[in-house]
Amino acid sequence: MSKKVLVLAGDGIGPEIVAEAVKVLKALQDQGAIDIVLEEGLVGGAAYDACGDPLPEETLAAAKSADAVLLGAVGGPKWEPLPIAKRPEKGLLGLRSGLGLFANLRPAVLYPQLIDASTLKPEVVSGLDLMIVRELTGDIYFGQPRGVETLPSGERRGVNTMVYTESEIERILRVAFELARKRRHRLCSVDKANVLECTELWREVATRLSADYPDVELSHMYVDNAAMQLVRAPKQFDVMVTGNLFGDILSDCAAMLTGSIGMLPSASLNERGQGMYEPIHGSAPDIAGRGVANPIATILSVAMMLRHSLAAPDAASCVETAVARVLDEGLRTADIMTPGMRQVGTAEMGDAIVAA
Ligand code: NAI
Ligand code: MG
Repeated sequence: MSKKVLVLAGDGIGPEIVAEAVKVLKALQDQGAIDIVLEEGLVGGAAYDACGDPLPEETLAAAKSADAVLLGAVGGPKWEPLPIAKRPEKGLLGLRSGLGLFANLRPAVLYPQLIDASTLKPEVVSGLDLMIVRELTGDIYFGQPRGVETLPSGERRGVNTMVYTESEIERILRVAFELARKRRHRLCSVDKANVLECTELWREVATRLSADYPDVELSHMYVDNAAMQLVRAPKQFDVMVTGNLFGDILSDCAAMLTGSIGMLPSASLNERGQGMYEPIHGSAPDIAGRGVANPIATILSVAMMLRHSLAAPDAASCVETAVARVLDEGLRTADIMTPGMRQVGTAEMGDAIVAA
């Protein structure tokens, strides 16, 4: 039976990069490598403009009945004056919580062709291959109470709350332990257990679970040190697991190890095996509409979709090989351009990957 893929392009560069990823899916379909039905929906600012809601009910319903969701990006200065509950980013958070997408996998791999595109020394990043596992439906992004309140004195106070239950912590840690098992058997759990009780519990659960995974070497690291170690000696890491907030920040940091945030895909999975796939970057309003954005992060997200949600691991490898081949040929979007290479736009990069 055909699998259903819901395409949510979003705002800014979202539609530009998603168009290239859809080309890749259609090419695989034409070759008989996959059997999918593509559906489109609105999310983010595009949805707000159309119907006043960044996550319309029909979009959430379509996502719930899909085998996989491909998302571009949402957000932009146009919607910044709106209250947070109406902002495009709220659409994305609503999808994550509505689908229960608690496990966010963010691989950071340096393509050897891009060694000069990284701002770090080649010896620091060459051969880099790490996986950040970010919890996605808890933490300070969803904790209550929240908001801006006015105290009796008249002074205003902003409140957000870091919350994790033991079962939420256990569930994401098990995903990370299992992944480490399939990789290099090392797991680093990142917290701030020295000052935050919530993450003290996190550390305790990680230590308890490690008894179930004797083949995985568990270490703990405070998040401030983890940020430093990621730029000092990133190859010490295999799998890193952390909460929603720390994972957001550390994965942007890891992105730059690979040369550009335009190279990093992600998968967000729930307990039913459904997944949402998106680049880790945002809507890049500074370059939107110019046809210069790098579509590779979105195309590599398609590869993750093929592997995790469409049971098509060969097609996934095929996409990853095609990306490598195009980089071998010297094609570069502006964000990864280095001397001697050939600069291309978004569509030209997508076409070259399809051809490869
Ligand atoms: P951003 O990731 O959109 O952009 C940061 C920088 O990276 C910009 O200079 C941008 O041009 C560049 N960049 C990003 N993706 C690129 C690509 N594919 N190719 C080439 N260059 C690329 O983050 P920023 O500027 O902080 O946020 C912009 C908007 O996106 C905001 O409204 C923010 O809330 C939203 N956002 C949405 C996310 C999502 O939809 N998942 C994630 C992060 C931010
Ligand atoms: Mg982020």
